[in-house]
Amino acid sequence: MNNLLEIKHLQKQFPQKNNKLFRKKEYFTALDDVNLEIKKGEILGLVGESGSGKSTLGRMIMGLTSSSSGSIKYNGEEISQLTDKEKIPYYLKMQMIFQDSTSSLNPRKTIGEQITAPMLRLGVVSSKQEAEKESIELLKKVGLKSEHIYRYPHEFSGGQRQRIGIARALALKPEFLVLDEPTSALDVSIQAQILNLLLDIQEEFNLTYLFIGHNLSVIKFFCHRVAVLYKGKIVEIAKSDELYSKPFHPISNMLLKSVLKLERQEESSNLEETLESTDMHTGCSFSGKCNYASAKCYESHPQTTIQYYSGIERSYACYHPLNQETKELEVVFP
Ligand SMILES: Nc1ncnc2c1ncn2[C@@H]1O[C@H](COP(=O)(O)OP(=O)(O)O)[C@@H](O)[C@H]1O
Ligand SMILES: [Mg+2]
Repeated sequence: MNNLLEIKHLQKQFPQKNNKLFRKKEYFTALDDVNLEIKKGEILGLVGESGSGKSTLGRMIMGLTSSSSGSIKYNGEEISQLTDKEKIPYYLKMQMIFQDSTSSLNPRKTIGEQITAPMLRLGVVSSKQEAEKESIELLKKVGLKSEHIYRYPHEFSGGQRQRIGIARALALKPEFLVLDEPTSALDVSIQAQILNLLLDIQEEFNLTYLFIGHNLSVIKFFCHRVAVLYKGKIVEIAKSDELYSKPFHPISNMLLKSVLKLERQEESSNLEETLESTDMHTGCSFSGKCNYASAKCYESHPQTTIQYYSGIERSYACYHPLNQETKELEVVFP
């Protein structure tokens, strides 16, 4: 399978408020040396606690947030440094679906107008009639009715608005979707319906997904492979079932056990502490919380190791990986 997306050494630093005393600009590292590949037709999961950098990575792939350094290649083409004009062809190929579609829908315009406008603007269809016909087809595809094109966003439930968001993304006939926690804002009973819809669409249009989430049971059911992000670093990548049954990284293990439950509020009040632990501390950023940490975990961050475990590739950045009880490990490169 070919790679649709290749991310190498991607870095994102957000400027912090100026430190008035020293007049020195300070930066917060939201993503640190991210390396990731997404194959054509693959559903890659991206998990991590809140604030780990998942949305930032999704937005950088979509060209909504600039990168500080590193490379993002789409179908072999570098896309991380494009001008607004150069980005236009990628609007057709790449779309993003957010946690809550309400914010991306205009409350004053009908659903029909909102689905047809980008189709006409970007030349996906040649006439208004064609755009309308297509938008009705799309609404039916996502489980809505043709008469819904005349309605306004507030007339729909959260689940229906998410379906509208999906229809609107599909209108431009994309190849790749970033799904940023697409069901987190929905009732549990509706979540499965939307996930099933996304799976059907992926299969029908042979789409490639980056699926951002924090619920690992959803990830296991939905994704082919999973990347685990912690404080801006990818700490493990594995096939979903492998990660689920044999996590190598203590962070993956903890996420699986839902031990890591950082509340958003708590996190923002601890921002200075987070800054210090990611930027000043040279070792593994998890060492202070990890039951397995040794002296070297505090001294340097472990390199990503790729190993074959019973013929299956495992990739992780940890000095003390779990679940390696058998001796079948073959180190490919340290
Ligand atoms: N525009 C921004 N300016 C400054 N800091 C930001 C900005 N966007 C995100 N961040 C910070 O980057 C970190 C990662 O955020 P985000 O990617 O939203 O995490 P996640 O989606 O995993 O919850 C957080 O600490 C957040 O505060
Ligand atoms: Mg997010």
